[in-house]
Amino acid sequence: MDSRVINFIEQNKDRFVEELKAFLRIPSISTDPKYKKDVRDCAQYVAAELKRIGIEDARLCETAGHPIVYAQWLQAPGRPTVLFYGHYDVQPVDPLNLWLSPPFEPDIRSGELYARGSADDKGQVFMHFKSLEAHFKNSGKLPVNVKILIEGEEECGSLNLDKFISDNKEMLKADLVVISDTPMFARGVPSICYGLRGLVYFQIDLTGTSTDLHSGSFGGTVANPAYVAARLLGEMKDPEGRVTIPGFYDDVKPLTGRERQEYASLPFDVEKYRRELGAPELWGEKGFTPLEQIWARPTFEVNGIVSGFTGEGAKTVIPARAMAKVSMRLVPDQDPDKIARLFEEHLRKVCPKTVELTITRMHGGKAWLAPIDHPAMAAASRAYQKGFGKKPVFVREGGSIPVVSTFAELLKIPSVLIGIGLPDENAHAPNEKLDLGNFQGGILSTAHLYEELAQI
Ligand code: BES
Ligand code: ZN
Repeated sequence: MDSRVINFIEQNKDRFVEELKAFLRIPSISTDPKYKKDVRDCAQYVAAELKRIGIEDARLCETAGHPIVYAQWLQAPGRPTVLFYGHYDVQPVDPLNLWLSPPFEPDIRSGELYARGSADDKGQVFMHFKSLEAHFKNSGKLPVNVKILIEGEEECGSLNLDKFISDNKEMLKADLVVISDTPMFARGVPSICYGLRGLVYFQIDLTGTSTDLHSGSFGGTVANPAYVAARLLGEMKDPEGRVTIPGFYDDVKPLTGRERQEYASLPFDVEKYRRELGAPELWGEKGFTPLEQIWARPTFEVNGIVSGFTGEGAKTVIPARAMAKVSMRLVPDQDPDKIARLFEEHLRKVCPKTVELTITRMHGGKAWLAPIDHPAMAAASRAYQKGFGKKPVFVREGGSIPVVSTFAELLKIPSVLIGIGLPDENAHAPNEKLDLGNFQGGILSTAHLYEELAQI
């Protein structure tokens, strides 16, 4: 790569961090309607930033929800077209009292930048902007044609994105997608992610009576929705950690002997993992290692549950209602619609007639596995090697980026996931952070990536 690009990245690193801080100061929490204006301001900031780095054709595209930012630079005839996808929205910040510095006042401590969105995903999006800037500022052009799609609803399920993509197939036509929205396998271990889990998400409401009841006067005569919820949810997994929904595992692609060997050869210390999580003991589906459980096995989780009296002191009451949010992480080849149907049928069957049950399906998406022999994967590997001085490992992830399978289905193109987060980055949790060494290495790696992709 042109040494001017490399020098530019080195010489401007402090400015890049200052600019990233401005991006992080905008509280673009997509799930909370209170932040609607901030989310739009953030989209505008992204479009303006793209113009600043040299991509003039940048605009906001309205959706039924938050705007999508779209930009393109198509002046490399004969070269491949790369569609870069990321998200500018962030997760809510609660519990706020556990943050050591305010979530929207970026703070650097020991080489790490603390702020909501620093790793997921603003920092990783920004690193691409800066590598593109480095190319532009030094040669007046980019090595490949670039289309940029930055959405504002990823953290609440990308509800309007599939429609946008299917309405704009021609505009989004590209040879491949590049995404940086995943963590590395471990600190100092650059990683290319070739698999993600899918998701189906539900809210469940149970109503026992028209009002809360005195538990002395009425206890023993009516079903208690909190109790029913606990029992129903408890029975969704057996003591071996297997989900009990009939048919749940029917379409699960079994792990091959080769995959199991590959996962086992990665530097993963189970005891260290347990310790870092602060769990007294690990618990998961019997017969699988933690990496297998996260990467290649589906699961059922209770994300939250509320019912009855949880305040100070004691109150003798039978709650009228219980509510739970539950979700299932899926793996290839489970179909979210089919799993959603199996879950609903099962829950309706096992739920006693003593409570009224309402099931509301929320967002979700398909699991994904990449074609790892695609030349773009080798290009990403070379780019990483040049940026971090180390060959990357190929890993899967337990999280979900639903649009990746949409890109495969609607645009028929592969995605390359080259993320520089870390497993302890606290994504979705208090004190989210970004390692600034990885940010810098990521700018260099993605600058190489765009150049490597020119050759495929
Ligand atoms: N960056 C994550 C996806 C991710 C998380 C990839 C962990 C690999 C490991 C993304 O922003 C995210 O949180 N996605 C949601 C999707 C959901 C809202 C449909 C997720 O996985 O919960
Ligand atoms: Zn993300």
